Amino acid sequence: MVKMSTDKQEIIRLREELNLHNYRYYVLGKPEISDYEFDVLMHRLEELEAANPDMFDSDSPTQRVGSDIAEGFTQVAHRYPMMSLGNTYSIDELRDFADRINREGETPVKFVCELKYDGLAISLTYEHGRLIRAVTRGDGSVGDDVTQNVRTIKSIPLRLFGSDYPDLFEIRGEIFMPRSSFDRLNAERELEGEQPFANPRNAASGTLKLLDSTEVARRGLQSILYGLYGENLPYKSHSEAMKSCMKWGLPVSDKMAEFDSVDELMAYIDSWAEKRSTLPYDIDGMVIKVDNIALQQRLGFTSKSPRWAVAYKFKAEQAESRLLSVEFSVGRTGAVTPVANLTPVHLAGTIVKRASLHNQDQIALHDIRLGDVVYVEKGGEIIPKVTGVNFSQRSADSIPLEFPVLCPECGTPLVKIDARHYCPNQSHCPPQIVGRIVHFISRKAMNIDGLGEETIMMFYENGLIRDVTDLYKLDRRRLLALPRMGEKSVDNILKSIENSKQVPFARVLYAIGIRFVGETKAQSLAAHFGNISSVMSATQEELIEAADIGTTIADSIIDFFADESNRDMVLKLAEFGLQMENQSRDRVSDRLSGVSFVVTGSFEKYSREQLKELIENNGGKFLTSVSGSTDYLLAGEKVGKTKLEKAERNGTKIINLDEFLAMIELVDVAEPYYEAKQQTLF
Ligand code: IVH
Repeated sequence: MVKMSTDKQEIIRLREELNLHNYRYYVLGKPEISDYEFDVLMHRLEELEAANPDMFDSDSPTQRVGSDIAEGFTQVAHRYPMMSLGNTYSIDELRDFADRINREGETPVKFVCELKYDGLAISLTYEHGRLIRAVTRGDGSVGDDVTQNVRTIKSIPLRLFGSDYPDLFEIRGEIFMPRSSFDRLNAERELEGEQPFANPRNAASGTLKLLDSTEVARRGLQSILYGLYGENLPYKSHSEAMKSCMKWGLPVSDKMAEFDSVDELMAYIDSWAEKRSTLPYDIDGMVIKVDNIALQQRLGFTSKSPRWAVAYKFKAEQAESRLLSVEFSVGRTGAVTPVANLTPVHLAGTIVKRASLHNQDQIALHDIRLGDVVYVEKGGEIIPKVTGVNFSQRSADSIPLEFPVLCPECGTPLVKIDARHYCPNQSHCPPQIVGRIVHFISRKAMNIDGLGEETIMMFYENGLIRDVTDLYKLDRRRLLALPRMGEKSVDNILKSIENSKQVPFARVLYAIGIRFVGETKAQSLAAHFGNISSVMSATQEELIEAADIGTTIADSIIDFFADESNRDMVLKLAEFGLQMENQSRDRVSDRLSGVSFVVTGSFEKYSREQLKELIENNGGKFLTSVSGSTDYLLAGEKVGKTKLEKAERNGTKIINLDEFLAMIELVDVAEPYYEAKQQTLF
């Protein structure tokens, strides 16, 4: 027998030990060693693995840092459809559900009650104890393969403990972002001038769809699992299955409780409705399930959801607070929002001091007055909102709220469009000017480092900038004369402004701040029109030919360029050397000129990014989703049914890789691509 080297034995031991500590920390929440001690073990393992490359194992705890090589997402069909749950906000309906089932089963039926985690559903497949795939819910029958990203979530084991697990099974659950990670992420985004996420659920969903799993690893997603699926599983009840999952190291909820009394079940739900803000993550209700699997099978499913489970949804959390004063804040687009200053109050895990009052119509509708005790709610948005008045507490001296007629910032008469008030003084109203410049310099736009909202405000107040074009005229000496502006930071700012002249045209188009033209719309416009003068002179009909551009956006673009000061700004930016057309330096041919492609599925020899480059370098357009204007769907392996059906509906030709390569003359095929027939391909 060959004896294993001591290094190798230690590697195996350390992997087991670290997996166990990960489990204690992330799943049980009961770490047995300090972070420092954990890091020491991890470093030792890293050292040993580096010295023993033959021991490489992609499941080692050292490999959980993610990779930045990503290839879009492949679509995978679910073995068992991912259904949703029927839901109710009414305790009476919930009681009806329980009573109905009690009449079906042998009384009393045992129910399990779980938290309803507010994230996104995920299906994990384990084969021989190893995590082999993680797929999002998608449309319920086909989802995105996000395995790379899910592997970075430390509470999800890559290998299971023990050996008594089924050879092949799926376990489903929720991926979510705990509040602390959410707050940290949003603080970073605001610092970077990026749009913060509206709530932890959006943040989790945005994160899971990132193509860079290193960034996913950094953002601190969490997971709790609540459903086991497989063939011939030996479990008689859901709770028994979950207990086994727990033994294998899977992060199953420790808040699941079993009941055979409906009253006790209701009391449990009530208790969580009360204390849900004490949890470190958001829940939006409770899920009640029949425990017995034979009874579950007897009850079956409707077309959308199981008859053996229901979600009881909590109403948005509400708090009462006194309305002290109202500010009218003017945004980048000139919209005026009334913001309430309140006596600080605890709400859904945070302290709220300010809340939105929406607009004049809402204030009138709810008859909200200064000094009132108002109800505050946290909905899907970042900013809590005032939703009504507690009239029983209204004092005789409450003061009706007056909406200003003049802009509180620049004194210009406001105009009312639909329910909102706007300040029309785009070129001279300070928050509009500063807001536009802050957007212009933000990371996804011109990415000008060293400048933030405060610095821009200071430049503005000192008369150095009036619009974005002034950034390119900043004078080193004048900057050095400003408070807190050292040589190093001034040089950094000027260098960064200079570098921004190389930022691609699509981002310039986003940076100039056309209403409704976000990052992806700007990319689509740049890809379709190629340069700024074509965008500026395009008619509505021409604009809507670009992918993803509808009439509202087209009209907004036309309005923007109808304004002389905007045309002037673009002209000046072009004179300063900003990119006003797509670069053709990488262009190798025009063979695909005027032809658009969507790429789907996986390809053995090419990444999605490489195919995108090939398309663009040959003059073609790369689109992300199939629409009426898509010419070709380039399909690889494991292609989702929905994409193919959509292509067929839209008359988009479906081609394979060889046919695509023939179009750009990288390979020869007997049959010219334009004669390729869909049915011969699949
Ligand atoms: S069971 C057949 N249990 O809520 C569907 N779902 O509104 C079985 N969810 O799609 C789902 N917590 O994403 C179940 N403890 C829990 C849950 C839960 C959150 C989500 C899940 C589902 C959605 C339905």
